[in-house]
Amino acid sequence: MKSILEIMADELRPLFSARGYDEKFAMVKVSNRPDLCEYQCNGAMAAAKQYKKKPIDIATEVAEAARDCSMFSEVNAVMPGFINLRISNEWLADHMEKMAQQEKLGLNEESEPKTVVIDFGGANAAKPLHVGHLRSAVIGESIQRMARYMGNHVISDVHLGDWGLQMGLIITELQERKPELPYFDPDFKGEYPAEAPFTIAELEEIYPAASKKSKVDEVFAEKAHQATLRLQEGFAPYTAIWNHIMNVSKKDLKRNYDNLDVHFDLWKGESDAEPYIPGLIDDLVKKGLAVESQGALVVDIAEESDTREYPPCIVRKSDGAALYATSDLATIIQREQDFHPDRYIYVVDKRQELHFTQVFRVSRKAGYVKPETELTFLGFGTMNGKDGGPFKTRDGGVMRLEYLIHDINEEVEKKIREKGRVPEDEIAETVRRVGLAALKYGDLSNQATKDYIFDVDRFTSFEGNTGPHIQYMDVRIKSILTRYAEEKGAAAAQAAVIRPAESDSEKKLQMVLAKFGEAVESAWNEIAPHKICAYMSEVSDAFSAFYLDNNILGETDENRQKGFIALIRLTSRVLETCMDLIGVKAPDHM
Ligand code: ARG
Repeated sequence: MKSILEIMADELRPLFSARGYDEKFAMVKVSNRPDLCEYQCNGAMAAAKQYKKKPIDIATEVAEAARDCSMFSEVNAVMPGFINLRISNEWLADHMEKMAQQEKLGLNEESEPKTVVIDFGGANAAKPLHVGHLRSAVIGESIQRMARYMGNHVISDVHLGDWGLQMGLIITELQERKPELPYFDPDFKGEYPAEAPFTIAELEEIYPAASKKSKVDEVFAEKAHQATLRLQEGFAPYTAIWNHIMNVSKKDLKRNYDNLDVHFDLWKGESDAEPYIPGLIDDLVKKGLAVESQGALVVDIAEESDTREYPPCIVRKSDGAALYATSDLATIIQREQDFHPDRYIYVVDKRQELHFTQVFRVSRKAGYVKPETELTFLGFGTMNGKDGGPFKTRDGGVMRLEYLIHDINEEVEKKIREKGRVPEDEIAETVRRVGLAALKYGDLSNQATKDYIFDVDRFTSFEGNTGPHIQYMDVRIKSILTRYAEEKGAAAAQAAVIRPAESDSEKKLQMVLAKFGEAVESAWNEIAPHKICAYMSEVSDAFSAFYLDNNILGETDENRQKGFIALIRLTSRVLETCMDLIGVKAPDHM
């Protein structure tokens, strides 16, 4: 559907051109003086320069003609040359009803759907998910939902860190702790056990212990390095251990991501790109892009227009080892082969920006992606604690995601029990949904690139610009709709249609709801989930004002009441769609 602004411009265009002015002057925007008008066209001002006339004269001419358009209820030319517009309440109600009849509420889906690979999550196997991974999961999930809703073909990949030194560290530590295991017996000939020689709890304890040891014990560090190399060469017993690590670790990660309602199409990792590395290196050398530098192999990526210095991208270290960039390049080759994406979006900590600039430039230079393929790095800022420093546990350690969720849920449960509106058997699920809304909205309402302060008290509040507040508005609407249907019957509720607004707050709510499509389209075009949050907050404010102004269930004029019912039903659909786009669901009671 066209937006109201576009339709208004469509109406004004012929009026400009019929009077000898270029139709490009017919642009309309939302008024910044809502006390004077709802929309305005400032084109007469620019036209005046071109046609050497007084702006007010042009504005007056066009305004006079525009009074005949049924879309406008009021058109005024005012000094120095604005055209002030009000939209007709009948026209608007009709527009809203058309919107309500569409499944996607008037959204214009992507005219040319794209195949989009979204690389987010990025957890590291065998290490617990910590808050640093939270933002990638929350932002990435919202982006994949927006991309799909816009009609694109999306492939999301968690891209696990599963191939680095952490594996060698775990193997080495395991050998010290349990040398009797068959993996460490060179004479062992049988099948390796199907059961992992550790639980997730042990695994999570083994890794940090090994990591600490490697920093003080050189012999241990060297052993771990060797173990990593042997694993990467395909040494069977280590591959068997690696498989155990991956099974145990993926199961735990899946549980954690499920708790966040974050989902991936693919559970691939750095190890999956490994087979592509030798071919990649050969190709870069053959193309003359990779050159020897102090024993290493590097690709120069500097460009003439650079305003800062970009160090070359190292693709092979002097000891022959591949690096993080090598792995991401190989992954691109793999993804090109499997999916031919039109676009890649990486949702990773902004401190990795240089890495991605290097990877993108090498891919383009070597022709691994088509020239028109879009490579997007969405680098996000840090989640900080109330003291302004990186978020930590009370004792200063790295906060595990599970504990963070636990803290939020505890606070949410306290509030829900205090309010006493949720039946006992719904409490657990309500806490889960409200807790997630607090967490996700708290994060996503900030521009992704910015750092933000994680504030449990504020995020879990039922008032203000918070996720729980939005949910609460929707819960309230749903309870009115349920009561209406109980009193008047489902058929009456079904038959309700949106009516011309009779108050400012009713009209304002309609005008805000009408912006749904534009809001979602621009959030997707700019990959900016915070725009969805800002829009939801605008909707919920407009609804609050309308709700204060009108006694919906007490309204005695049946037709009028039906109009209210249709309007709040649309409000709920808009809110629920937006919530879904940020990965949040409202509970039934709150
Ligand atoms: N595992 C990495 C980390 O924890 C993030 C991976 C991001 N994705 C990528 N394709 N490099 O820092």
